[in-house]
This record gives sequence, C-alpha cells and structure tokens, in this order.
Amino acid sequence: MSRTDIVSSLLWGIVSCLWLLAIITGIVWFFIWLFHGSRWHINVDVESATLARFDLDSNNTLLYNLTLGVSFKNPNSATVFYDKIAVTALYDGKVFSTAGIPSFTQSTRAPTRIYPAFEEKESMSSNWSLAAYNKEKVERIYHINVTFNTRIQIEWSQTNETGTQKYSKGYTWEANCALTIPTVDSAATFNKTTCDVKF
Ligand SMILES: *[C@@H]1O[C@H](CO)[C@@H](O)[C@H](O)[C@H]1NC(C)=O
Ligand SMILES: *[C@@H]1O[C@H](CO)[C@@H](O)[C@H](O)[C@H]1NC(C)=O
Ligand SMILES: *[C@@H]1O[C@H](CO)[C@@H](O)[C@H](O)[C@H]1NC(C)=O
Ligand SMILES: *[C@@H]1O[C@H](CO)[C@@H](O)[C@H](O)[C@H]1NC(C)=O
Ligand SMILES: *[C@@H]1O[C@H](CO)[C@@H](O)[C@H](O)[C@H]1NC(C)=O
Ligand SMILES: *[C@@H]1O[C@H](CO)[C@@H](O)[C@H](O)[C@H]1NC(C)=O
Repeated sequence: MSRTDIVSSLLWGIVSCLWLLAIITGIVWFFIWLFHGSRWHINVDVESATLARFDLDSNNTLLYNLTLGVSFKNPNSATVFYDKIAVTALYDGKVFSTAGIPSFTQSTRAPTRIYPAFEEKESMSSNWSLAAYNKEKVERIYHINVTFNTRIQIEWSQTNETGTQKYSKGYTWEANCALTIPTVDSAATFNKTTCDVKF
C-alpha cells in the first residue's frame, strides 16, 4: 500500500465513523421525540399584563387587581378542544389567586385570546416573604408566575386511497408563565412573555 492509499483509507474510515455517529444520533433523537411528550405544539404567550394594584395592607392582606391578555396558538393540522382551564397566580412561590377560563375549541392555526382576571383580596400566610415583597415594591415591578392547567383533546384526520380516517387523543396539559409585571403607575412596560408548555 502506498502512502496515499493509507491516507485515503484513513480518511474513509473517519468519514464512515462520522456518518455512523450521525445516523445513531438521528435514531436516538427519533426515539426521544417519539416517547418524550407529544408531537403536537401549542404556543402560549402573555401579550399584556395590567397590574392595577398589588398592595399589602397593615393586616397583612394582599389587595390585587391583575388582568392578563393571553394568546393560545395551535400550529398543528388538527383541532384542539380545551376543558375548563384552571388559572393560578403565584407570588414568591405561593398561590394568591385563582381564575377559571371556560372550555373552548381551537381550529388549525387560529389564535385564541383569553383574558384571565384576578381582582380580589387574599390574606397572606405568615410565611410570606416580606423581604422579597418590600424589595419589589420599591421598583413597583413584581415577579408573578401564572400557571394554566387543563385537559385537552386533539382531533386530526388522515386521508389515504380508501378514505379519510379521524383520530383523537387526550392529554393532561399545563403551561407556566414566569412574568415580570410592572404596576400601572410604574414607568416600566410589560414585555410579551412566552410560557413553558408541557403535555
Ligand atoms: C385590620 O383589621 C382590623 C380588625 O379586623 C380592622 O378593624 C381594620 O380596619 C383592618 N385594617 C385594614 C387596613 O384593613
Ligand atoms: C381593576 O383594574 C381595572 C383597570 O385595569 C379596572 O377597570 C377595574 O375596575 C379594577 N377592579 C377593581 C375591583 O378595582
Ligand atoms: C416561576 O417559574 C420559574 C420557571 O419555572 C421558576 O424558576 C420560578 O421559581 C417561579 N417563581 C415563582 C415566584 O414561583
Ligand atoms: C410555615 O412553613 C412551615 C414549614 O414550611 C409550616 O410548617 C407552617 O405550617 C407554615 N405556617 C403557615 C402559617 O403557613
Ligand atoms: C387507509 O385508511 C383505512 C381507514 O380509513 C385503514 O383501515 C387502512 O389501513 C388505511 N390504508 C393504508 C394503506 O394506510
Ligand atoms: C423588558 O425588556 C427590556 C429589554 O430586554 C428590559 O430592559 C426591561 O427591564 C424589561 N421590562 C420588564 C418589566 O421586565
């Protein structure tokens, strides 16, 4: 074997190894995709947040008034049916309010806007972190998490030579939105926030 033969067979070996690695990686990813969550996507964005009030009175009662503008987008070639959605607002890791959104149906690509509103008062537990609250009160910008929990049903159809077949599958669905919300009297403005969706 000449020198060039050795070099070219060495190169050939490296290239085949790389190909093999790429194929194995592809197969592994395929199985992760197959068994890890669904092949469907739903995008949830909090487009607006109006925090008219977020005050702690002398009795340690939180007075709040928060309205969100949330968009749900269904980019799949399928129809999504949402059960009643439980919306929970948390501050400092603790629930301070809940809201409900009635069930609705969403066809392909059509965005749906919902407006969960929280406007009541809630006594705070003695475990409430006053230090965190007082720090955020200075800037009038609060870190509030909002979660959405429901069940969804996805319906899609497939057409072949013999006709069209309808399929349907249900999922437990949740979204978590980590929001940074300025009060209405603050100079800051709310930034559109994309939520983490799991199902
Ligand atoms: C605090 O609670 C007391 C007793 O319930 C009540 O009289 C008072 O008005 C409350 N203060 C505020 C600011 O709500
Ligand atoms: C909450 O704030 C909105 C304005 O963002 C206002 O229209 C509404 O009346 C307020 N609700 C309460 C109970 O204060
Ligand atoms: C909000 O959610 C984020 C992301 O899951 C998490 O890291 C953070 O601790 C949560 N904050 C609160 C106040 O619950
Ligand atoms: C405060 O937290 C402790 C430990 O997490 C818990 O045992 C206690 O019941 C809490 N108290 C209140 C009033 O929530
Ligand atoms: C075509 O769809 C029918 C149901 O509508 C199904 O029974 C059949 O197996 C499908 N054929 C192929 C080749 O996928
Ligand atoms: C919005 O985004 C800008 C740019 O990233 C940032 O400087 C600002 O603090 C954000 N505002 C809030 C309320 O998070």
